[in-house]
Amino acid sequence: MGQEHVIELMQVAKQFDGKYAVENFNLAIKQGEFVTFLGPSGCGKTTTLRMIAGFEMPDAGKIMLAGQDIGQLPPYKRPVNTVFQRYALFPHLNVFDNVAFGLRLNKVHIKKKLPDGTEVEEFRKYTAEEVFTKVTKALKIVDLDEFEKRNVTTLSGGQQQRVAIARAIVNEPKILLLDEPLGALDLKMRKEMQLELKAMHRKLGITFIYVTHDQEEALTMSDTIVVMKDGLIQQVGTPTDIYNNPVNAFVANFIGESNLFNAISVGANQIKFLNQTFDVPHQFPDNEKVDVVLRPEDIEIKPLGETPLQAVITDRIFKGVHYEYNVVVSKNELIVQDTKLFDLNLDVSLYIDPTLIHIMKKDLVSNVYKDIPLNDKNQLVFDDGLSDVNIAQLLEGSKVSDTGFLVSNKNVQYDLKNLKVFVEIPFNAIELFGDPDMGQLVGNVVQCFYKGDHYQIVMRTESEEDFIIDSEYAYDVGTKLGMKFDTSKIKIKAKGDLVDYEV
Ligand SMILES: Nc1ncnc2c1ncn2[C@@H]1O[C@H](COP(=O)(O)OP(=O)(O)O)[C@@H](O)[C@H]1O
Ligand SMILES: [Mg+2]
Repeated sequence: MGQEHVIELMQVAKQFDGKYAVENFNLAIKQGEFVTFLGPSGCGKTTTLRMIAGFEMPDAGKIMLAGQDIGQLPPYKRPVNTVFQRYALFPHLNVFDNVAFGLRLNKVHIKKKLPDGTEVEEFRKYTAEEVFTKVTKALKIVDLDEFEKRNVTTLSGGQQQRVAIARAIVNEPKILLLDEPLGALDLKMRKEMQLELKAMHRKLGITFIYVTHDQEEALTMSDTIVVMKDGLIQQVGTPTDIYNNPVNAFVANFIGESNLFNAISVGANQIKFLNQTFDVPHQFPDNEKVDVVLRPEDIEIKPLGETPLQAVITDRIFKGVHYEYNVVVSKNELIVQDTKLFDLNLDVSLYIDPTLIHIMKKDLVSNVYKDIPLNDKNQLVFDDGLSDVNIAQLLEGSKVSDTGFLVSNKNVQYDLKNLKVFVEIPFNAIELFGDPDMGQLVGNVVQCFYKGDHYQIVMRTESEEDFIIDSEYAYDVGTKLGMKFDTSKIKIKAKGDLVDYEV
């Protein structure tokens, strides 16, 4: 470990009930860095943070701090403190005493040299003067130095969270862990606190490890973002790296607004998507499936006929500096940003600079589809067929009522008809049938590879949706087959909030 690394996680893993919550986690964090763990709910962010804090012991791997494995040390022996989303302040104490509370319980650990040269360890309490100095300094950093005497119950949510932060930094930890600390605040307060946290980070000069599921928050605050999914790191990089060069479809879709397509290579330096062939500066084997990302700002709207890519404008929102358009190309919906004003329902053409087409190797174990709508029977509506899916996975602790509504653990009901979801179907979750009527979807084999111990088949449906399938058997290219999904293995995620679907 280099000197500049304050903490390093090496092959860290944690299982609950035989399932990995965090797996093969490798990360070295620099002194003073602002690192953010970003990912959807349940991806292992909190578990990783709790292992760093010492509230959870890893099953495997090491957590190295200054050359020592601290993975099994209790929390109070680590130079680390945590700020939680639900900050438990003491309502009967004022601001000063809330911050001083831990200090007054703590003992200072000092090594004393006796006259004969031997060293003894001694513990003593902080003096009132030491407590005063430390609390005053912490309150100054969080901008609450005029509030010492105030009762915490009279403070706003943002101010209370600042007290919680002061309490966490008063001990001068080397690393501050923050688990969705702004989650309970309203949007305006969140934005303000984001800036304040950045300022505190600069003032303190210590390492922040921050957890959020909000990509915008991660992009604005972090030096380094660690994108996680299902307990695994997907990508580590600066915000610009991750925005501009996502390594896979999951990262691209999770970070910011993007247009994501299934594409296929159709010859040297050519790929096909949106029914068009594009020359690209990459070479892929023939018929290789790839993911393509187009950022909304990288697509230009042109008069009809100027490019072969014909589109119609279906929606427009003014965003202050530009317009955001929804445009439809055959059956695909795209988001486009443009500073010029265009009419709704206008036929236009789109220009895509081939050097701005971002091509990614396919996620290797799953088919990924975005914006697949649900119907009134909670089924996924693909262009050529329907599939059942477990919608309870959209919300932790929810279930489906007899009337087909999703019901949260707080008894809020959601009608998810027309909700668009991000769908993942593992390659091993699709079965092929020689009788096309046996499946939910019908397609033709366009490719069949031998993968050492099984075959990988690429199926294409009539509306040119491609599915990759792991199969024991080989099939000839051109064969018409039925596809049946193992619906228990289909994963879905809603990109936005479910509130719009409350009943
Ligand atoms: N104490 C626990 N017991 C059992 N399962 C847990 C426990 N803590 C977390 N998990 C599971 O581990 C996974 C990761 O959870 P968590 O780290 O809390 O995710 P995140 O913070 O990213 O939302 C989830 O599937 C969660 O249900
Ligand atoms: Mg969490």
